[in-house]
Amino acid sequence: MSVKNRINIGVIGFGTIGSGVVKLLLNSRKLFYDRTGIDLNLKLVCDKDLRSKRDVSVPKSLLTGDADKVIRHPDIDVIVELIGGIHPAKEIVIKALSAGKHVVTANKLLLASYGDVIFKKAKQMNREIFFEASVAGGIPIIKSIREGLQANTFYSIMGILNGTSNYILSGMSGGGADFKEALKEAQSKGFAEADPSLDIKGVDSANKLVILSLLAFGKKVSMKDIYIEGIEGISPLDIQYAKEWGYTVKLLAIAKRDGDQLGVRVHPTLLPSEHLLSSVSGVYNAIFIDADLVGKQVYYGQGAGKMPTASAVLGDIMDIASTIIHGKRSGCSVATKRTEIKKLKKMDDTLTRYYAHFSTVDEPGVLAKISGILGSYSISIASVVQKERREAHVVPIVMLTHEAREKDMRSALKKINNLGIIKRKSILIRLES
Ligand code: HSE
Repeated sequence: MSVKNRINIGVIGFGTIGSGVVKLLLNSRKLFYDRTGIDLNLKLVCDKDLRSKRDVSVPKSLLTGDADKVIRHPDIDVIVELIGGIHPAKEIVIKALSAGKHVVTANKLLLASYGDVIFKKAKQMNREIFFEASVAGGIPIIKSIREGLQANTFYSIMGILNGTSNYILSGMSGGGADFKEALKEAQSKGFAEADPSLDIKGVDSANKLVILSLLAFGKKVSMKDIYIEGIEGISPLDIQYAKEWGYTVKLLAIAKRDGDQLGVRVHPTLLPSEHLLSSVSGVYNAIFIDADLVGKQVYYGQGAGKMPTASAVLGDIMDIASTIIHGKRSGCSVATKRTEIKKLKKMDDTLTRYYAHFSTVDEPGVLAKISGILGSYSISIASVVQKERREAHVVPIVMLTHEAREKDMRSALKKINNLGIIKRKSILIRLES
């Protein structure tokens, strides 16, 4: 094997994804060489915990607990950051770029929070930073947007970007596992974040939306710009009611263009059951794209888990290795030159349809009171059903509205909740078609 075509790799973070990447680098080295003509040589693996058992055995000489040893190693060309979280991942990535290393990371939280600083450093050092694994696990959505679709102007992106939440919602809609059980399963399968509230509160999806918005719309969105609502408030009952009307509930991350404005939001959403995203279940992710030249497209695959995510990391390593060997391109290739979007659309101004579930007292005139308030905000009801009483003195009234402005819907809901006929927190779920 020609040493001139050898690329040395240091992996920092030997957890679920790290062990998948290490396994591929050790076991498929010859296969990758045959495919690329480049020898991907694993030089060092770093983790603060070197005692836990992994499903890959690594020669002791390759293991270290000292990240600086990896960063400072003169022969290492590419550093793969897989520890997740902000600290010390941020310091490691910045130090690695400053030391002239190329970087591959799967860290969506880091990029959503400090992408600016990191991309700037990569550009300044003329080094690559690749992050395919940060969004939608094994689906090559970053490459698709950045490369395959670069001639397009994007209208919208709607994604199921969190495998854990989708796993939970799918379990609940199948009538099987309840919320807690499904979350436990997702954790045991290695899908969930170390802090699973990031998954179920919609933060992880929002992190990924920051990255997609930058690539597709050239818009630097920060986390505080995104309206975020998780799946904690979704009950099997609402999933059931939605199903009866022909809808499926999904946690969607949405970036939608309206003229020169971009609306960015993450929330549970009712989708028509025949929509392509509705059939995406379990840990699978999917991204629905609408753009001027290609029209509508859907990307589908496993969005979390060891080997699908390791696949994305390896793709990035191979890309960078090829850049180093063949000089394909240089510098930070994050496309930020799109200028179509001038500002972010306020959530208050968003127009959507709504599903609303009111738990009311069982008295005459209740429906009239609710519809009267909705009407006073110009919110028109498309369908309404009073469901069978499930407990004494509480009647569920569920409805679908026509398109309404978010601000109006919120004001109406506040008034309805203050009526005294409402027994429990009302549920509001937005609807997309
Ligand atoms: N916790 C994430 C998910 C992992 O469930 O999708 C992949 O980013």
